[in-house]
Amino acid sequence: MNKKLELLEQKTVEAKLGGGKKRIVAQHQKGKLTARERLHFLLDEGSFEEIGMLVTHRSSDFGMQEQIVLGDGVVTGYGTIGGRLVYIFAQDFTVFGGSLSETHAEKICKIMDLAMKNGAPVIGLNDSGGARIQEGVNSLGGYADIFYRNVRSSGVIPQISAIMGPCAGGAVYSPAMTDFTIMVEHTSYMFVTGPNVVKTVTNEEVSAEELGGAHTHATKSGVTHLTAVNELDCIEKIRRLLSYIPQNCEEKTPRLTFEVGDELRPQLTDLIPENANQPYDMREVIGGIVDDGSFFEIHEEWAENIVVGFARLAGRSIGIVGNQPISLAGVLDVNSSRKGARFVRFCDCFNIPLLVLEDVPGFLPGTDQEWKGIIVNGAKLLYAFCEAIVPRVTVITRKAYGGAYDVMNSKHIGADMNFAWPSAEIAVMGAKGASEIIFKKEIESADDPAALLAEKERGYQETFANPYRAAQRGFIDEVIDPKDTRRKLIKAFAMLENKVEKLPRKKHGNIPL
Ligand code: HXC
Repeated sequence: MNKKLELLEQKTVEAKLGGGKKRIVAQHQKGKLTARERLHFLLDEGSFEEIGMLVTHRSSDFGMQEQIVLGDGVVTGYGTIGGRLVYIFAQDFTVFGGSLSETHAEKICKIMDLAMKNGAPVIGLNDSGGARIQEGVNSLGGYADIFYRNVRSSGVIPQISAIMGPCAGGAVYSPAMTDFTIMVEHTSYMFVTGPNVVKTVTNEEVSAEELGGAHTHATKSGVTHLTAVNELDCIEKIRRLLSYIPQNCEEKTPRLTFEVGDELRPQLTDLIPENANQPYDMREVIGGIVDDGSFFEIHEEWAENIVVGFARLAGRSIGIVGNQPISLAGVLDVNSSRKGARFVRFCDCFNIPLLVLEDVPGFLPGTDQEWKGIIVNGAKLLYAFCEAIVPRVTVITRKAYGGAYDVMNSKHIGADMNFAWPSAEIAVMGAKGASEIIFKKEIESADDPAALLAEKERGYQETFANPYRAAQRGFIDEVIDPKDTRRKLIKAFAMLENKVEKLPRKKHGNIPL
């Protein structure tokens, strides 16, 4: 064999082995796959084409010239998932802890640029100790080059980040600017500074898991959208997530074949409890509307008083935002507003129609919420809906009270079709609170204040605790039988399929961040 070819083959084998056998074994012992194994399982078989396998770093400080590893700690390239093109990078923790050098960053930037030019998603499999310490400002600059591309790509192509090991320092900011983050339980961490630095600076003792593990970010910070029990589960979730999303902002959502059948769903008929204060699970409403088993929930464990996720309706992807009566009665607060707003904006970026299921008693009152900025955070959700130009449909299942009625995709802020179940109550507030305010003097001077309050409550309830006033005004397009909801929605979204709406010309809006 030609000497050069022989050398190339040998180098290729070395590169495929990454940082050597010992390190690979260590990786497996931690319950982690190697970068190449991850690519193997994630991409369609045989579809991966590597770019930049023979790249090496250019550093010569701290003896780095003696430590040359082909590929420089990241495997980059393209392949397909479910037959659709994706660009991908997988950091290799067995090489300098997956740390980001100047050339490592250049490889990632190269595939990000290709993805933008060709309109396909970028997936990052992150497993990195952050900026390569031996390279100083060269690695910091490399991060900034990636951040810049994350932002330029935002809203143009979907960006998904899987966290499959420790991600420290700069390694967390790129995922934070992508559309979705998925963390693997017990083997992945995200923090700006690790437990040792925390201890030095604040004297606080905290484990890596508690500081930035998957559970922490799924429940406390909301930094991760999804968690996975292991790496294969993570890979499965990435594949599933992609199946709902178009390749870029110019494309329509992927569609599965669908044949109309009996679309009535009798299980929705008695789902709303007689007592308006009794909770029910909005996921059951979702299950009775969407194609069987198609609901894919996002941010499941964070801000549980709002449910968001993707589903299919008659084969076509939709995004769902629903108040959740079983958590804080479905009230809107700081976190649920942020969660809803982020999801609405993603769907709007990528032409995914929105379905809103509304049962909301209002915004959560109190000093805690006011001081955390419920005004500006609630405004995020309001802003996101007002701005969205995808097909938008609302179903009010029960309460639509106060400002929350306006916020939750009301007709007034641009929703296309607004339905209500007969159980809907559309009013400024609940009957008791309303009666106590507007009949205060009358009730105080009554012989039997409690009896008069009850009577006034009944009157208010009869007047407003129904959808018909709103329907008379056209704010509700139709009051529908719950069991007919799926059929109505299939028809409504089909009717809206070619919706075109343009926003006024501007650089970008100024969402209250
Ligand atoms: C160079 C690194 C490295 C880094 C790890 N390694 N991080 N090499 N630069 N940033 C190397 C280690 O020297 C070691 O090499 C190998 O990777 C494995 O690391 P371990 O520490 O043995 O692994 P583990 O115990 O699993 O701990 C992983 C870790 C820890 C939690 C990531 O390594 C760590 O804290 N690293 C530093 C994190 C950090 O502070 N990064 C810089 C952030 S500043 P050998 O040869 O011994 O196997 C930053 C600025 C960007 O990122 C800001 C942009 C906004």
